[in-house]
Amino acid sequence: MNYHILTLFPDMVRDGLNTSIIGRAIEKGILSVEAVNIRDYTKEKHGHVDDAPYGGGAGMVMQAAPVCDAYEALCARLGGRRPRVLYMTPQGQVFNQSIARELSKEEELVFLCGHYEGIDERALEMIVTDYLSIGDYVLTGGELPAMVMIDCISRLVPGVLNNDLSAEIESFHDNLLEYPQYTRPEIYEGRRVPEILLSGHHKNIDLWRRQQSIERTLKRRPDLLAGARLTDKERAYLQNLVSGEENG
Ligand code: ADE
Repeated sequence: MNYHILTLFPDMVRDGLNTSIIGRAIEKGILSVEAVNIRDYTKEKHGHVDDAPYGGGAGMVMQAAPVCDAYEALCARLGGRRPRVLYMTPQGQVFNQSIARELSKEEELVFLCGHYEGIDERALEMIVTDYLSIGDYVLTGGELPAMVMIDCISRLVPGVLNNDLSAEIESFHDNLLEYPQYTRPEIYEGRRVPEILLSGHHKNIDLWRRQQSIERTLKRRPDLLAGARLTDKERAYLQNLVSGEENG
């Protein structure tokens, strides 16, 4: 997977993505991150990339030309391929695990990060394929959302996690939250690890974990349950929990 980030703050995304699991995957050559400085594509003699909005109003708007020129130069470097351009904006579709899964199948992805009051609409019309948000709140720029999405997409790219199974058995897999995890010591501050996890009985442990996932999802994110794939037995278990909640 090759990421290309169009930004006015290339150091921010480079520094943010070169550590830990993502940094190691870049070193291994499974991922690459190219931060393109939009300012390098201005033809303005003072290096400006923004100007006042037509019609008046607060703030500055990023001009269309440097943004489009940065993208066209990138496509030329890619031998004429035109990868998807994801524009980071609170007006976009809210990013989630299933969008991440879909994007992880692409070979190249371009993240367009705006600043100030946004980018001239004509540039967006010309190059953007996807409008994406990380939630209903407003940040100062698209760099943090791009890093959030890159982190999430990357762990789904084969070879990035040491154990590819952990990308699958995760919160939101099957629309259920992950079960609770424990490690040594067996007793901490008087709190014991659930007995079943010490039993060595893998079938019972799997059943217990699945039930914990269902219970946790009901408590913390009941909205997810509508899309969860449950067996008849699991559905009955959930129904029992719901009746318990209603009665207690
Ligand atoms: N830019 C500013 N706020 C944003 C958000 N919530 N998601 C994506 N991009 C943004």
